[in-house]
Amino acid sequence: MKVLIVGGSGGIGKAIVKRIQESYPNATVHATYLHHLPQDMREKLQWHALDVTNEAEIKQLSEQLTELDWVINCVGILHTQDKGPEKNLQSLDIDFFQHNLMLNTLPSIMLAKHFAKALTQSHSARFAVISAKVGSIADNKLGGWYSYRASKAALNMFLKTLAIEWQRTMKRGVVLSLHPGTTDTPLSQPFQQSVPKGKLFTPEYVANCLLPIIANATPAQTGRFFAYDGTELPW
Ligand SMILES: NC(=O)c1ccc[n+]([C@@H]2O[C@H](COP(=O)([O-])OP(=O)(O)OC[C@H]3O[C@@H](n4cnc5c(N)ncnc54)[C@H](OP(=O)(O)O)[C@@H]3O)[C@@H](O)[C@H]2O)c1
Repeated sequence: MKVLIVGGSGGIGKAIVKRIQESYPNATVHATYLHHLPQDMREKLQWHALDVTNEAEIKQLSEQLTELDWVINCVGILHTQDKGPEKNLQSLDIDFFQHNLMLNTLPSIMLAKHFAKALTQSHSARFAVISAKVGSIADNKLGGWYSYRASKAALNMFLKTLAIEWQRTMKRGVVLSLHPGTTDTPLSQPFQQSVPKGKLFTPEYVANCLLPIIANATPAQTGRFFAYDGTELPW
């Protein structure tokens, strides 16, 4: 099995890399990082520097990795150094909104575009993306977080549309949108005070939950949105 984890240096990504290495010791595992190359995880793992906002870099990596079974995208942002998710409409800022799209939406589109060929060769192709339940339009009861919600809703629409195209062109391929639950990583760190007791998960717990969902998914489940506990979420 050949696997690529994009954003393997992040909280969730790193835990997924470790879980895959434990569960599939014979797998060839490639992972990407941008700023933080994990120093403790260099064995039996091929790291690639990748800025997912740069299509030329994605294309270049796809030319190196020409056969893959799974591509898992764990890159995303919720806040930057000076901006966080909006509490109200007046806080909306075009640059921050575009930054959300650049990191949360477009990379998966570009990864699918350039790695489609590598996945087509596989008998069990998976293209799985860590989305977020707040990207569900049907589930939106609290409002706020305009940019993050919209970028994840756009991501979800993209994944659904991709699944439909690949049902025609990559019959064994499975496209999944996944919600990890609130996970203790730098991304959620500023917002953890309001998380109910027992609902802030470790990245290891989340990786343990998500990996079987990815591994056991069948082509009949392509284009669906699943939470960490296996429940299907509404779009
Ligand atoms: N944590 C949660 O509670 C939670 C809840 C719902 C959904 N999610 C989703 O889960 C995913 C993973 O989040 P996380 O909590 O693991 O976040 P995280 O710990 O902050 O990790 C973010 C990852 O994104 C990478 N990255 C950022 N900008 C990049 C760029 N331009 N090019 C390439 N890589 C880039 C980082 O790489 P470097 O560190 O190497 O720079 C890092 O690997 C995100 O999509 C997030 O929206 C998380």
